[in-house]
Amino acid sequence: MASHVFMIRQETAPAQWWFLSLAFVGAAYAATVTLRFVAYLALCRCHRPKDDLRRRYGEWAVVTGPTSGIGRAMALELARHGLNLVLVGRDPAILREISGTVKSLHKVKTKTVVFDLSLVWTPDGDEPLRRLREAVEGLDVGVVVNNAGVAKPGAVYLHEADVEAWVRMVRVNMSAVTEVTAVVLPGMVSRGRGAIVNIGSAGSEYIPSLPLYTMYAATKRYVAQFSRSLHVEYASKGIHVQCQAPFFVDTRLMFRFEEAAGGVSLFTVTPDAYARAAVAWIGRGGALCTPAVRHQLLRRMAAAAPDSVHDWILLRLATWNRKRCFSGSE
Ligand SMILES: NC(=O)c1ccc[n+]([C@@H]2O[C@H](COP(=O)([O-])OP(=O)(O)OC[C@H]3O[C@@H](n4cnc5c(N)ncnc54)[C@H](OP(=O)(O)O)[C@@H]3O)[C@@H](O)[C@H]2O)c1
Repeated sequence: MASHVFMIRQETAPAQWWFLSLAFVGAAYAATVTLRFVAYLALCRCHRPKDDLRRRYGEWAVVTGPTSGIGRAMALELARHGLNLVLVGRDPAILREISGTVKSLHKVKTKTVVFDLSLVWTPDGDEPLRRLREAVEGLDVGVVVNNAGVAKPGAVYLHEADVEAWVRMVRVNMSAVTEVTAVVLPGMVSRGRGAIVNIGSAGSEYIPSLPLYTMYAATKRYVAQFSRSLHVEYASKGIHVQCQAPFFVDTRLMFRFEEAAGGVSLFTVTPDAYARAAVAWIGRGGALCTPAVRHQLLRRMAAAAPDSVHDWILLRLATWNRKRCFSGSE
């Protein structure tokens, strides 16, 4: 009888040990995820004094694509933080309008540079690039927001759009980010400070695929990897490089998925709300971040679903969007 009990103990002890180890690993993982999320929320709540960006990085900010959506909201938010602005866009009238609005609301200076960023790395792009260099020369440029971006052609199969349209997207989303960064870096290196914010997309970072928006997602992956490597390359020179990867922001570019997916609109933020969070995050955290709290929640939820589920849902939503675009309701 006694030997029988001893045998059962011997058999159950390793099982208990395994169970306890797994429970410990599970608890440690849950604690790490929770702590990361709490640390993230703490950063979101962290108040940034009005003159902080000016003091830490410099008096001027360069913003590309300030004529609508996120770029416009970020330009206004940076001005609210006391930064003078170099506004880079392709439409002179709207640039003048946003410049006037900024100056009427905040006591800052502005400069505008007319630049169609789809011309970067073409002979026609040399002249506006020279004007941009001239505009920032001698300025204490502390912050750069590479925001301009295009998602069109979207909701199309790769073989459907003409090559020139893809090339324009590549130039705006990738070449312009690279070139504008290259223009401001020498000044930042010589001053030993600066913050570069590249607007990427959650669509290339936190979900496995973005069917029918393949080229867009691929260009945004470039933005993220470009930022990650520069983050490491320039950290010792006092320059913080960051890719911000938002989910849904209510602009004309936003994929109109939310109408098909109902609940997604819960996770959509206004450009102003995004800009407040985005500016609070400048120079904080690692090379990749998702500033808005709602987007952070969506990111956590997305991480829990298997890739095949994402792929299935996204293809259906994109197909729905495609029908909508081609039926002319978009
Ligand atoms: N909205 C979202 O849900 C979302 C999600 C993830 C990432 N993003 C990213 O956020 C950034 C801003 O997009 P948004 O949502 O604010 O869209 P938006 O309202 O369409 O703004 C895009 C901006 O880029 C400018 N731009 C486009 N092509 C240009 C060119 N060739 N030369 C110069 N400027 C050009 C536009 O200028 P014009 O006014 O002259 O067209 C506009 O100012 C983009 O990089 C986008 O990929 C947006």
